[in-house]
Amino acid sequence: MSAVQVLVVGSVNVDLIMSVDVLPGPGETVTGGRFRQGGGGKGANQAVAAATAGAEALLVGAVGDDVHGREQRAALEAAGVDTMHVLDVAGAPTGVAFVTVAADGANQIAVASGANAHLDPDLAAYAVRALDPARAAVLLGFEVPDAPLLAAGGEAAGRGIPIVLNPAPARPLDDALAALGPVLTPNEQEARALGGAGPLAARTGAPVVVTRGERGAVVVGPGGEETVVPAPALQVVDTTGAGDVFSGVLAAALAARRPLAEAVGAAVQAASRSVTVPGAR
Ligand code: RIB
Repeated sequence: MSAVQVLVVGSVNVDLIMSVDVLPGPGETVTGGRFRQGGGGKGANQAVAAATAGAEALLVGAVGDDVHGREQRAALEAAGVDTMHVLDVAGAPTGVAFVTVAADGANQIAVASGANAHLDPDLAAYAVRALDPARAAVLLGFEVPDAPLLAAGGEAAGRGIPIVLNPAPARPLDDALAALGPVLTPNEQEARALGGAGPLAARTGAPVVVTRGERGAVVVGPGGEETVVPAPALQVVDTTGAGDVFSGVLAAALAARRPLAEAVGAAVQAASRSVTVPGAR
């Protein structure tokens, strides 16, 4: 059988990563950091996770016509992600994220979106139309504007393709997006910011899967029923991108039409493994 297809509509960033002992507070300077650069952007990380899980991963995104854009495109292709639908945007820089990681694995992230603000809704819809509905899932993320998410989500819903929506970073959920019935994958903070998992599930009519770090995930159904999926105990090195791995692997499992409980179990295992190594991918 052909591989399942995961089409991600989301962001591409270059991550400028500083590892420190303790995260600085507001107005505080910490020294002794170690610096490195890596591939990032929640959408790009999710696409890499889906490809690593064995899916044919395609990304609808945008980079600047600059060195970071060329590097990120090459890195995605090397990781097995199809970048045919990643635009080169003239006059906008590739997205940049400042990522600070503490010794206990916690992080702080600030993003300059740059080209990520310029995704093309028509291209997003076109990319969904090219999928095989019987073996595909579409994964949408909040690091890009609503217009391409609505365009891709509308096409996916019309074709019976499962939709996963990772509402990170949190912003108000558009009624038209909610009406598409996506499986939402917020973390606990994002679920609170969006009004709580129960009300969200009632609004979308679909399960909400809340990621809870070392405590795994909880699935909240539209009727308020909850199922807890625990995570294995592991040594945490860096939590950056764990939520992205979760959503990418969940989408791949749903594209294979695995039952939700099984898909969430696979996503928890993959996200847990991802925090044992540095970096977002
Ligand atoms: O989820 C982690 C990602 O968030 C990082 O790679 C960074 O680029 C930001 O998008």
